[in-house]
Amino acid sequence: MAEPGERRGRPKTFPRRIALKDGRVATIRLMVKKDKDKLLRFFRGIPEEERMFLRDDVTKPETIEAWARDLDYSTILPIVAEIEGRIVADATLHRRPYGWMQHVAEVRIVVDPTFRGKGLGHALLAEILDIAGTWGMEILVSELTPEQKPAIKLVKSVGFKREATLRRHVKDLIGTPRDLLVLTRRLTQE
Ligand SMILES: CC(C)(COP(=O)(O)OP(=O)(O)OC[C@H]1O[C@@H](n2cnc3c(N)ncnc32)[C@H](O)[C@@H]1OP(=O)(O)O)[C@@H](O)C(=O)NCCC(=O)NCCS
Repeated sequence: MAEPGERRGRPKTFPRRIALKDGRVATIRLMVKKDKDKLLRFFRGIPEEERMFLRDDVTKPETIEAWARDLDYSTILPIVAEIEGRIVADATLHRRPYGWMQHVAEVRIVVDPTFRGKGLGHALLAEILDIAGTWGMEILVSELTPEQKPAIKLVKSVGFKREATLRRHVKDLIGTPRDLLVLTRRLTQE
């Protein structure tokens, strides 16, 4: 059966190996159920102030267990990057199976702080763009706060444009309201 990452006319399969800017090699592959412990360790290494940008409490084993239990690649596609048996980055593509937003998917990416600036974020985002195309998505969305400067730069570097600012729409861990930027990348000609 075809992998979700397979592209029309140009098959792309996981796992794949990519070289980072520092010469290390990472394996990019789909998340599988047995990644639970590795993922928990990965998310516990993400600084607390950054975890506010994530939707779930990823430091709780039950959160990761629920992800593994409910794994359904057709609605949420999780890709991980692994180096020497350790998960160092996670990217997910989210889509809705029904309704007026079924042509719109959302992307989320987190890279372990010690592995940033080496090209992993860019490599995972390129995978996500590719897969969103094979899914027939027309719009990719990234929701960020103005404080997430590296993420804003990353998504803009692959063509995302700022579409809207929702003023004081989200709150950080201590309850301070922050703006929410909605950036989109069109995958089809309008
Ligand atoms: C955003 C994030 C995923 C980038 O991952 P990364 O592996 O460091 O990214 P890359 O090494 O591929 O860098 C890609 C581009 O991002 C930008 N970037 C990366 N680190 C940056 C930094 N510290 N400051 C500014 N821009 C930065 C640059 O444009 C870079 O391109 P360049 O190398 O040509 O300059 C990472 O910083 C992260 O996990 N941040 C916290 C979580 C987050 O905000 N996620 C976004 C939510 S969807």
